[in-house]
Formats: sequence, structure tokens, C-alpha cells
Amino acid sequence: MAELRFGNNQLLQAEVAGKQVCIAKTSMGIAACAAKCPHAGGNMAEGFLDKRDHIICPIHRYTFNLDNGRDLSGEGYYLKIYPVEVRDSGIFLGIEDGGLFNWLK
Ligand code: FES
Repeated sequence: MAELRFGNNQLLQAEVAGKQVCIAKTSMGIAACAAKCPHAGGNMAEGFLDKRDHIICPIHRYTFNLDNGRDLSGEGYYLKIYPVEVRDSGIFLGIEDGGLFNWLK
């Protein structure tokens, strides 16, 4: 298992199951979200965590709740959140193995 190297902002970007994700080390544990901001594609791993463990995009500073992805800036965007399970053998993310077209089959 590779060691996770978080930046000073407690965030890192990783590829998991072919998807770029942002992993956050919060006061409550590990959280995971899409690597790109839903507003204009900012790199969330270059953002910040606030005192309430919300993630802030580095580009326009929209703030997102890491529990449900809601944009707390009131613009109506949602950041994709991935469920996380921390086990002795590693950190596991719940990532769908198919997109909309797989679902429609
Ligand atoms: S790109 Fe993230 S808030 Fe605009």
C-alpha cells in the first residue's frame, strides 16, 4: 500500500479506478471528492479546508460540504463526493464502474 502524502493543505490528488479524485484529511477522517471543481474546473487538491472541514476551490473560492457536495456559496453547484471506507488494508473509495450509458443498458 502506498503512503498518502498530503500537502500542507491536507489535500492530495490521486487516480483511483481511472478517475482523478481529491482526497482530504479532515478533522473527522478521510474524505474524497472529484478532483475538478464543478464551477469551472479548478483543481480541488490545490484548494483549502476551512475550520469546519469544508473544501474551498482555489480559483473562485466556492466552498463545498465534503459530506454531501453542496456548494455553500449559494450558486447551486454540487461537487461529486465519493464514499470512503478506511480499513487495515487501505483506504477504499466507492466509485461506480460505469457511467450513465452503462446504467441505461
Ligand atoms: S473553478 Fe472552482 S469556484 Fe470557480
